[in-house]
Parts: sequence; structure tokens; C-alpha cells
Amino acid sequence: MTETIRPHGGTLINRVAEGAEREQLLKKAEKLYRLKVNAWTVSDLDLIGVGAFSPLTGFMNEQDYTSVVERMRLADGNVWSIPITLGVEPDSAHGFEIGEEVALVGENDGIVYGIITVESVYDVDQRHEAVKVFKTDEMEHPGVQKLFTKPATYVGGPVRVLNRPKPEKFEEFYFDPAETRKIFAEKGWKSVVGFQTRNPVHRAHEYIQKCAMEIVDALFLNPLVGETKSDDVPANVRMKSYLALLENYYPEDRVFLGVFPAAMRYAGPREAIFHAMVRKNYGCTHFIVGRDHAGVGDYYGTYEAQEIFRNFTAEELGITPMFFEHSFFCTKCGNMASSKTCPHGKEHHLTLSGTKVRALLRAGECPPPEFSRPEVAKILIEGMREPEYQV
Ligand code: ADX
Repeated sequence: MTETIRPHGGTLINRVAEGAEREQLLKKAEKLYRLKVNAWTVSDLDLIGVGAFSPLTGFMNEQDYTSVVERMRLADGNVWSIPITLGVEPDSAHGFEIGEEVALVGENDGIVYGIITVESVYDVDQRHEAVKVFKTDEMEHPGVQKLFTKPATYVGGPVRVLNRPKPEKFEEFYFDPAETRKIFAEKGWKSVVGFQTRNPVHRAHEYIQKCAMEIVDALFLNPLVGETKSDDVPANVRMKSYLALLENYYPEDRVFLGVFPAAMRYAGPREAIFHAMVRKNYGCTHFIVGRDHAGVGDYYGTYEAQEIFRNFTAEELGITPMFFEHSFFCTKCGNMASSKTCPHGKEHHLTLSGTKVRALLRAGECPPPEFSRPEVAKILIEGMREPEYQV
């Protein structure tokens, strides 16, 4: 079997309790303080538990948080760009003792998802965090908005996962990092490029994926299916579109589809680093970063999410980023291209804004095939009619 890439920090973390130990912890949890947590926190907890966020073993303590916010590293020096924190109402949080265990309970379902051992309770300046992480403190930014809804007191410490969140649909596409690593090795893939997306795969996405596939052994199509902003296409609709695309246009033996059940932060450059580290944990050797990766509105420069990688050495990153220019269909070239490969003027380039594409789809019209594969467009048109899209 092929050797897989080293996880970030060197060890794939596993904080999921099983068997007798789980039973014992569940019993213990009955007597603990029950802290209600939302779906986003459950998702973070689970991703920590299965090692997707290795080397994190829990929610960040004050030392790691400060270090991540100020210098994009954990206190031990490992590269890490996004705070992973547990916000708790100050009245409850300041009542916790250091070393105390607290049960993390789903706010809607009452399920005990895990236990945290309190290591650190600290008040933060969220405006400062926003400016450092999102490069803005404007409330219009969806990531900033989310941050400001969270209590400004954080509780850090190692966790144990006792129950896993259950996917509503497409359960067969949920794989833990240990599983993807095993699968890639069994397939004999020595190099795998990860692709993050929160959108349907349009021709530009397909183009950069396939350019990368010319170089590496395989593609890990890893769409983010956690919380996204309300005008992004819902994950269930996207999943259908990915399946149609793969069936019609990708070689079955060189692509693996598995979801990334994390929330979208919209932190642009910092999120690109985070996305790359996490994909390393899933077993990718390469990671695609195109135009305005994880961006929103015009908060970030088109290539800022690529430039940020210069802050770190190749050894520190441990995964190779593959950078792509803004890609488009050129009517003169008669194919997909970018400014690196096409000599023609903008008037020959097909570009459609997200708003324009949504308007077309809503009217039941397919965008041109040079923009989106008809099989994908058809699913998006049907998806637009589903109630879950009417948010
Ligand atoms: S993201 O928020 O998940 O980054 P999206 O799903 O649109 O958004 O992008 C997925 C990946 O494709 C990102 O790396 C992004 O930079 C890249 N990308 C999207 N559109 C283009 C394009 N037209 N040209 C080049 N890269 C692109």
C-alpha cells in the first residue's frame, strides 16, 4: 500500500470515544453541567474529534487563540490561520473551574455530542479578531456577522466526542480523514489534489481541476456542506449536480467525491490556508487555490488567497498549493483559458456574475454550455424550485 502524507502536526488526532469508554463517559456526562451548543459548534467538535483539524485536540485555549489571531500559528509554532473556539455566555463560562468537565449538548436535539475539559476561560476583543481574521469588522461580511453573534467569552480545552452528528442526506459521501487516507492508499494514488468548493462545479472549476489532474494521480472533490450563507446553493442540490457532472465528464478511477462537513467562514486568504491544512489531514498532497478563494463580495484581492501562502515555508505547509489564474471560456480560442494561456481581449471572454447565473436559472434557462454543463444547469434549475432553496 502507498504511504500517505503526514497529517498536520505529525499525528492524526482521534478524540472519538467508542465502546465501553464511550458508555462510561455518557454516564459521567449525565452528572455534568450541560452546555447547549449550536450546529456549527457540533460540526467543529466532530471535525476536531475525527482529526480533520489535527493537531487540534479541542477548542482553542487562550494561548493558541492569541497566537493564531496574531501570527497564524498555534502556540507551538504549527501553521494555523482560523480560530476554532467555543463561545459561552460569560455568566456560565466564568462559573467553570479549570479542570472541570462540561457536557456539550445539541441545542435542538438534546444529544450529548461530547465533553470538554475546561483548560482556559478568556474574554476576547471580537472586533480585533474580525479585523485580523476577516480583514474587516463590517457587519455586512457574513463571517464577521457570525462572529459577533457569538459570546465574546471563550472556553478552551481538549474534547471527547460521544455522539456524531447524523447527515440528513448523502450519508454515503461522508468519510473521516482516516478513511480517505486508507482509500487513497488502497487505490495506489501517490498524489491527490483536494478541491474545496461551496458552489456547483462550473466550467472554470472543471478546467482548473482537470489541469491539476494532468499533473497528479487523482482529484479529491471535497465540497463544503456545513453552514453557508443563505444565498449560496444548498448542499443537497449541489451534491446532485456533482454526481451528474462526475458521471458524464470525469474518469471514475481518478476522482473521489467526499464531503467536508465544516461551516464556511468566508475568511478568504486565511481560510485558504485553513482549507489546505485540513485537506492535508484528509490525505491530499496538493490543494487548488484559484481566484478569490473563500472570498465574499470584494473584501479580498483576486489573488490574496494565493499570496498568503508566501508567509510559510513548503515544509511548514506540508501540502503543495496549486495556484490558478482566473479562468474563463474564450470564444476566439474556442476553449477554457486564463490570461496565462489566452492572448485575446476581454470582449472574447465569457464571464457571468453569480447574480446573472441565478437569474437565468430562476427563469428556468440554462446558462451557456461554455459556462456550465447542461446536466449541471438542469439540476440547478430543478433545485431552485425546491422549497429548501426558497430561503
Ligand atoms: S470557495 O468559497 O469554496 O472558494 P468556489 O466554490 O467558487 O468558492 O471556488 C472553489 C475553488 O475554485 C476556489 O479555489 C476558487 O478560487 C476557484 N475558482 C472559482 N472560480 C474560478 C475561476 N473562474 N477561475 C479560477 N479559479 C476559480
